[in-house]
Amino acid sequence: MTNETKQAIESMTDTDSRAELAQLSEELRGHNAAYYQDDAPVISDAAYDALFSRLQAIEAAFPELRTEDSPTQNVGAAPSQGFAKVQHSIPMLSLGNAFDDDDVSEFLTRIHRFLSIDETDPVEIVGEPKIDGLSVSLRYENGHFVRGSTRGDGAEGEDITANLCTIKDIPDKLKSDAPDVVEVRGEVYLPKTAFRQLNEAQEAAGAKIFANPRNAAAGSLRQLDTAITAQRPLRMFAYAWGDLSADVTDSQWGFLETIAAWGFQTNPIARLCHNLEEVLRLYNDISDQRATLDYDIDGVVYKVNRIDLQRRLGFVSRAPRWAVAHKFPAEQATTTLNGIDIQVGRTGSLTPVARLEPVTVGGVVVSNATLHNEDEITRKDVRVGDTVVIQRAGDVIPQVVHAIAEKRPKDAASYVFPTTCPVCGSEAVRDIDEAIRRCTGGLICSAQSVERLKHFVSRNAFDIEGLGAKNITAFHANGLVEGPADIFRLHEKRDILLDREGWGEQSVDNLLDAINERRTIELDRFVYALGIRQIGQATARLLARTYGNIETLHNAMAQAQDREGEAYQDLLNIDGIGASVAEDLLAFIHEDHNRQVLENLKEQLNIEDFVLPASDSAFAGKTIVFTGTLEKMTRFEAKARAESLGAKVSGSVSSKTDLVVAGPGAGSKAKKATELGIEMIDEDTWIEQSAS
Ligand code: IVH
Repeated sequence: MTNETKQAIESMTDTDSRAELAQLSEELRGHNAAYYQDDAPVISDAAYDALFSRLQAIEAAFPELRTEDSPTQNVGAAPSQGFAKVQHSIPMLSLGNAFDDDDVSEFLTRIHRFLSIDETDPVEIVGEPKIDGLSVSLRYENGHFVRGSTRGDGAEGEDITANLCTIKDIPDKLKSDAPDVVEVRGEVYLPKTAFRQLNEAQEAAGAKIFANPRNAAAGSLRQLDTAITAQRPLRMFAYAWGDLSADVTDSQWGFLETIAAWGFQTNPIARLCHNLEEVLRLYNDISDQRATLDYDIDGVVYKVNRIDLQRRLGFVSRAPRWAVAHKFPAEQATTTLNGIDIQVGRTGSLTPVARLEPVTVGGVVVSNATLHNEDEITRKDVRVGDTVVIQRAGDVIPQVVHAIAEKRPKDAASYVFPTTCPVCGSEAVRDIDEAIRRCTGGLICSAQSVERLKHFVSRNAFDIEGLGAKNITAFHANGLVEGPADIFRLHEKRDILLDREGWGEQSVDNLLDAINERRTIELDRFVYALGIRQIGQATARLLARTYGNIETLHNAMAQAQDREGEAYQDLLNIDGIGASVAEDLLAFIHEDHNRQVLENLKEQLNIEDFVLPASDSAFAGKTIVFTGTLEKMTRFEAKARAESLGAKVSGSVSSKTDLVVAGPGAGSKAKKATELGIEMIDEDTWIEQSAS
């Protein structure tokens, strides 16, 4: 359409505007793809701008026609393509949380205990504000910025180098000498003042309003059009490292000084502390300044200053033992409880969910909150119709704190927790000592099968692109997928998929390809995906590491059904698996239906043997038993070190043991090791040989 033939917007009917809007959107999407994906624009920038302005003008006159996927709302975004993936050479981890002074005190005590340091000897701690932004990793080679990426899932992020280049706090070239390879990590954020200005401009342009500075920073960083990122005054504080080809310092404080010299911004209110009192004083000081800072913070991060101690402390799961995030208290609001719904989880647990009159808490609209379980409702005496106080802290699910008794309607009745499953009607029972009531319906309960499927495809399990919670729920409802193995038979139902609304050749084929790609899966992911009670990622990994492959694991579990036998003892001997976890695992395997699911999956999949992380240590792959008193390191530290070197740690000596580390007072285990002719060393030798 040329300028001359354009209809005046004021004279447009609803039908006219709809038609032109659809046509413009399609045209602009085509141009976006040509520009961003193919790097081959077919019209001039000015012509593009004219089309874009026309669409904006129509949307401004007919705001009800504006859709979320309109090109005006997604400038430059090419969602199907996105950014290239980057593998982090050193994973980007998360932090454990501390919510009050006691938690912080425990954090310090744990460190002293782990390191065998006297309670009264100081361990220096660096306290830094916890910036509420997006973490990024910046790689420098020979002093030059070569690649920047998002955190992603910690193992793999997205390459956003071009966008990061627009940020003034990120130097192109390091300003003083540095090792050949340097990865600096930190938080990108949008200052509060810039956030307010951005939203005003967005509003004036009829574009998307951001909920908070963090979302705005995320939206700005993940622009495929670097020119847009460049218009947003993003900033960055640097605070950590990833890959370093040589050591640069021996402390966190020293590191902050070093990166400041390289040209990064480090946070000016970070402080070096020497004891609990100083740490808590810093927390209060930062808390007092919070409102006056031009960036959002959600707590204070404490880090052990000495890097050698950090190394000894190591990691638990995905968080360092040497650092913790002391969070600011949750934000609260008051609203009405409109109802209580019961959700049925993967393992049949019934969870009460509060349906609330929507209310804004800390910048986010909340309409649901958890009530945890039956006893919590009774304890808090929360009733439908009550005015309740709710709170949310960080990313956690909002909670109902308490009801305001004075505001209770006269007719509000005590809540009676159901004793049958609201989905399948089966009896719902509570074990002694358990707070949770569970549906006994097992897989006849559609809620449980859907939840199991959702878990099966979730991010840390099969993680099939295009098959998230929404699609799997729809496929289950239509009988396309009943159990996990059906996912891998979906190609047989291609025609049915094609008939589904919103699906075309391309999207169906993409889905089937994504499913095919996941036919090969790591053993630990597979075990985790099964969704067995109490078997989280860490335990799944332990099992994978111990048994090595699916057949061995499967057979061992079958044999371990005999609680008197050796296989059962072997299972209990895995450090980290207690009787309760073992029972849940064995109960799962014992169930016919589950065994069938396993068989079906094994037919469809190639489950990879567990490969120990590459370790050139002599201990890799060995099974070690520690016995007697260790004097220089705690048992816990010894175990952590052994595992980090690729060894398995067992609690008892058997023919499968490769090495026994015996301290003074070692008794029957040392004796047995001698009888079996197993190599035995003392603590000093262990320390010397295992030192990295
Ligand atoms: S240190 C291995 N320091 O908090 C520890 N993190 O909850 C690496 N964050 O993913 C993190 N300010 O995005 C550290 N001063 C700070 C931080 C900080 C914000 C974020 C970071 C991390 C998350 C963990």
